[in-house]
Amino acid sequence: MDGNGRWARKRHLPRAVGHKRGVEAVREVARAARDMGLEALTLYAFSTENWRRPEDEIGALMGLLKSFILSDLEEFAANDVRLKVIGDYNAFSPDVVELVKRALARTAGNSGTTLAVALNYGSQAEIARAAAKAAAKGSITPATIEAELDTADMPPLDLLIRTSGEVRLSNFLLWQAAYAEMWFTDVLWPDFTPAHLQQALDAFAQRERRYGGR
Ligand code: IPE
Ligand code: MG
Repeated sequence: MDGNGRWARKRHLPRAVGHKRGVEAVREVARAARDMGLEALTLYAFSTENWRRPEDEIGALMGLLKSFILSDLEEFAANDVRLKVIGDYNAFSPDVVELVKRALARTAGNSGTTLAVALNYGSQAEIARAAAKAAAKGSITPATIEAELDTADMPPLDLLIRTSGEVRLSNFLLWQAAYAEMWFTDVLWPDFTPAHLQQALDAFAQRERRYGGR
């Protein structure tokens, strides 16, 4: 979810306003994913590299995460959405950790769409952690590493969308993206709507996936 800052700058607004609009886009896109019957949607909300941002911006992002959980948790719970976190959210402040834990527990029994949120997530660290766990169990193979990834209970990654015109993965789902289809769009995240998601899914449906075969 990239482009919140540029969205705000274009309008001469503070970056925090861009993040706030970004949360509104999350709400609409998450609802659409559920209505479309997507099995899973993973949103990159906060990377291990985002700690490099100024303290006030990090504070604004944490505030938005908390208010989003408080405002939307019951809707997710009522609509069979299972919330999940990838990444090590225990590094966040205790109030955020508590709230996230509550959200996970509240929706743990749901089996519709899985809405995974990447919090303090970095793919290289995830892979290293998974490899260490696999090694401790005595075998390092692609399958044993995959079984220890944060995404182990999720379906294979089919489609990866990056907004705001950037054409890189930025340490997101590197392992999982091995055979994912990619969709890059110039749309800034706050402007990303369910119609854009549908456009990406339509393009995905046209792709021929051979997984190295022919
Ligand atoms: C959102 O967009 C990403 C988050 C960390 C939530 P950015 O804040 O990276 O926006 P740009 O790249 O400055 O436009
Ligand atoms: Mg950015």
